[in-house]
Amino acid sequence: MTGQDGELKITEIKPLIGSVVEASQETLLGGKYGLQLRELLEERSVLVFPKIGFDDEQQVKFTETLGEVALQYDGAAGAGGEMRPVFKVTLDEELNPMAASGLKTSFFWHLDGSMNEVPILASLLTPRILSETGGETDFCNTYAAYEALPDEDKLLIADMRVLHANWARDRYAHPEPSYEWLQRQRRGPSREQPVVWTHRSGRKSLVIGGTASHVVGLDPADSWDLLVRLRDWATQPQFSYCHEWTMGDLVMWDNTGTLHRARPYDPASGRLMHRTMLAGDEPFA
Ligand SMILES: [Fe+2]
Repeated sequence: MTGQDGELKITEIKPLIGSVVEASQETLLGGKYGLQLRELLEERSVLVFPKIGFDDEQQVKFTETLGEVALQYDGAAGAGGEMRPVFKVTLDEELNPMAASGLKTSFFWHLDGSMNEVPILASLLTPRILSETGGETDFCNTYAAYEALPDEDKLLIADMRVLHANWARDRYAHPEPSYEWLQRQRRGPSREQPVVWTHRSGRKSLVIGGTASHVVGLDPADSWDLLVRLRDWATQPQFSYCHEWTMGDLVMWDNTGTLHRARPYDPASGRLMHRTMLAGDEPFA
């Protein structure tokens, strides 16, 4: 697909995930292609805008051309934090006090807002400081992964439900928490979701990842077996794309049909990413 007047050049990265979109800043900020890019995002899961070089204001403006911008709690300001359009993704606790817990779990496959009734539709990420090694972002297409499942697995999981919880996710960062810490985390959100999300479009995706505690009604070992098997399946190379960042890149992903994670990097590198989000408009179902 190319845009009218040749203003957009779109190239597939892999057959089942990812497209590179080449366009000028003016073309993207003009908003003419907002709807087309939204559709392309749903179809391709991940869109890469190489070295587009947006500053914060432009990133927010571009996000506005695609839909409703979701405000995010600005942890950088501590207790005085406000809801802002740009969130700083970093392990530097001076820049973001939430770095200590939440962000460390971003090294494991997850979808954002799995504990909400309506998850975020999409995230847009740009680097401000990169680590010399590591820090790539992995994505996998859970629509394509579901579609390729053997029929007996589709039947097995068709009506299953899974509990997603903050405390379950936090086990990855704090495998042996104090009881006091656990009690605090349990006040965080948790919600039962379908393992298979049937979207309004009729397409189906998997609602799994690091926030999944257990499949409701299954023996703990069988539940863990299934969750690991599905995650292992969904993150196979044919469904996945690893983005190696260059300064100026912008990457956008459809949070409702993907999982993502950051690859480990040196916390002393100061790696800093700025994120905007598109508000969700479809509940898990
Ligand atoms: Fe995330």
